[in-house]
Amino acid sequence: MAEPTRSAGGAEIERAARLTLEAKYPIALTGAGLSVESGIPPFRGPGGLWTKYGEPPMNGFQLFLADPKKGWEERLRRRDDELFAPLMRARPNAGHLALAELEAIGVLRFVITQNIDDLHRQAGQQALAEIHGNFKLVRCLECVSRFPFEELALEVLPPRCPRCEGLLKSDTVAFGEPIPADVLAQCAEQAAHADLVLLAGTSATVYPAAGFALEVKERGGKLIEANLYESELTALCDVSLRGGAADVLPRLKDAVSRQRRAALS
Ligand code: APR
Repeated sequence: MAEPTRSAGGAEIERAARLTLEAKYPIALTGAGLSVESGIPPFRGPGGLWTKYGEPPMNGFQLFLADPKKGWEERLRRRDDELFAPLMRARPNAGHLALAELEAIGVLRFVITQNIDDLHRQAGQQALAEIHGNFKLVRCLECVSRFPFEELALEVLPPRCPRCEGLLKSDTVAFGEPIPADVLAQCAEQAAHADLVLLAGTSATVYPAAGFALEVKERGGKLIEANLYESELTALCDVSLRGGAADVLPRLKDAVSRQRRAALS
């Protein structure tokens, strides 16, 4: 793994801004790297949780189904471990705010995030799909209704859906768990419309998320990457902005605004 290079120069930023403005339907696909500057460790690469502890078992969902009560007891115990404590403390960083601003000025059409940290919502992103769920929500495995974790009665475990009595589980998609059909359909529809994907802070190693970017590229669309290191899709990117998301994305947003004003004047 190369040393972090903060080499996103002015010319690359300007080119990425131009491609973004030329696109009819630019979307973003974000990953854990976007939240590193909010204090949440990534999974892979330097400082990654899986780098440190190894990838978790791929059958987490099956283990939960085998004993949901035990699964809930473990979930409630984990509220202050190395993954959850930073989630509870984290706040959106300048990278999240830049993406929300790109949406507010009518440039960025949609964000597909792999992050469960709720930070895009807190940053004000409206057109958003959390493909791996949101740690602040629980989801019914029968009717797919979602409820805030705080509103849950936890006297009896596992908790049951107030709508259909189905089994409730954290909305965070476990390894081995299918992506919920509603959010998967939403992501597929957005990818079908997209002609540019801004990859921000993702290793692009997990599917179906990474597949949406590949699909756009294969259809002749553009890929822009904002990443501290190389990713699985760097070779396919039209522009690779090497640097921290909290530095690179605000610079990209400023260049888009500047070029847009110049075009309108
Ligand atoms: N700014 C931008 N990118 C960064 C930064 C930063 N400050 N720090 C790290 N990165 C990059 C890394 O180079 C890496 O490419 O962010 C990426 C993080 O990759 P992963 O940890 O694999 O995160 P992600 O791509 O979101 O993983 C996808 O895997 O384990 C599952 O469900 C989990 O949603 C996650 C999915």
